[in-house]
Amino acid sequence: MEIPFVYGKIAEGQDFTDREDDGKKLLDNFHGLVNTVIISPRRWGKTSLVNRVLGKIRDEKDYLLCKIDIFNCRTEAQFFQSYANAILSASYTKIDEFLHAVKKYLSSFGPKISLSDIGAQFELGVGIDFRDNTYSYDEILDLPQKIAEERGVKFIVCIDEFQNVSSYHDSIGFQRKLRSHWQNHSQVGYCIFGSKRHMLLDIFSNYQMPFYKFGDIMFLDKISKENWIKYITNRFLSTGKIIADTTAGKIADYVDCHPYYVQQLAQISWLRTEKVCDDKIVDDAFSSLVSQLSLLFSNIADSLTARQIQFLRAIANGETMFSSATVIKNYDLGTSANVKNLKKALQDKDLIDIWAKEITIQDPLFAFWIKNVY
Ligand SMILES: Nc1ncnc2c1ncn2[C@@H]1O[C@H](COP(=O)(O)OP(=O)(O)O)[C@@H](O)[C@H]1O
Ligand SMILES: [Mg+2]
Repeated sequence: MEIPFVYGKIAEGQDFTDREDDGKKLLDNFHGLVNTVIISPRRWGKTSLVNRVLGKIRDEKDYLLCKIDIFNCRTEAQFFQSYANAILSASYTKIDEFLHAVKKYLSSFGPKISLSDIGAQFELGVGIDFRDNTYSYDEILDLPQKIAEERGVKFIVCIDEFQNVSSYHDSIGFQRKLRSHWQNHSQVGYCIFGSKRHMLLDIFSNYQMPFYKFGDIMFLDKISKENWIKYITNRFLSTGKIIADTTAGKIADYVDCHPYYVQQLAQISWLRTEKVCDDKIVDDAFSSLVSQLSLLFSNIADSLTARQIQFLRAIANGETMFSSATVIKNYDLGTSANVKNLKKALQDKDLIDIWAKEITIQDPLFAFWIKNVY
């Protein structure tokens, strides 16, 4: 029997739920070539959403689609190399066309042919490499527009994990280059997405930054409890197992509707269920999930200062007035200037999220662990 519920990979097909409005809006933006920025904390479903919407226009013949994940691009040069490779691969499926395009558009690149040994088979890979370690970003950045013009099509370019660019050597200069090219591209729609909300918000909504007013900004929400209940009960039913609405709701509640964790906890519960999943199974599944994660959380806690942990504890306990004398005293947070630094440090580490002045611990299980286990 196929195991329902997926986590840690793209949710697609029947594993994908909800997001109708976001999906429709994104599809409209793609069709209208409206640049879009999608922001949410990690593991809430950005990559899955974009993948799904791209799937919807994959068969429309007037579009070329490129999706690139820049998580591993630590420098500008790495970005441009991956970017050029991705755009060319999205545009040309035949090796000779690919090589021809490299020659035609990218004078600073040479083609690279690789043969990798994958088990008993060999895979031929075609890519590109910088010649003499020099590159011209102009020709690379204009590639999608040039190809789209020449072919008389539209190009959708999606860049995942965009928050990474903030660590490039001259990040603002880099962003300026991108923006100055992209704004002249009449046949390309860009979709930029990533986590680290405060950083991306700064890039896209601070009027002093190059990407100010670049496009539509979408904040992806978590998925509602009602929707999870429907989804979980259906997935159980489709495999001949039963779970009551209230028990399914308990799964969503335990992990605060966090998409990745709902799927993970639902899967553990499903695996422990012979026929009917009751509350006891979910309770045990949750304990087992927390203990699975304990080592990871201990490592995170070890990397924090005593005051950072105290601050997390205050959040986990539901405190809101972090600069009040009582909270500062009860949690030994030092001074209110200190509190400010604590917020910033934990935000930079992507452990907390500050949204409409409300502070939350990003990972609901880490919050539980800080409060009840640590
Ligand atoms: N629409 C969805 N329906 C069901 N599960 C989802 C959905 N979106 C995300 N998930 C769950 O969350 C996990 C993380 O999703 P992902 O798209 O990788 O998030 P992000 O790109 O924001 O980090 C997926 O592996 C899946 O378990
Ligand atoms: Mg992602």
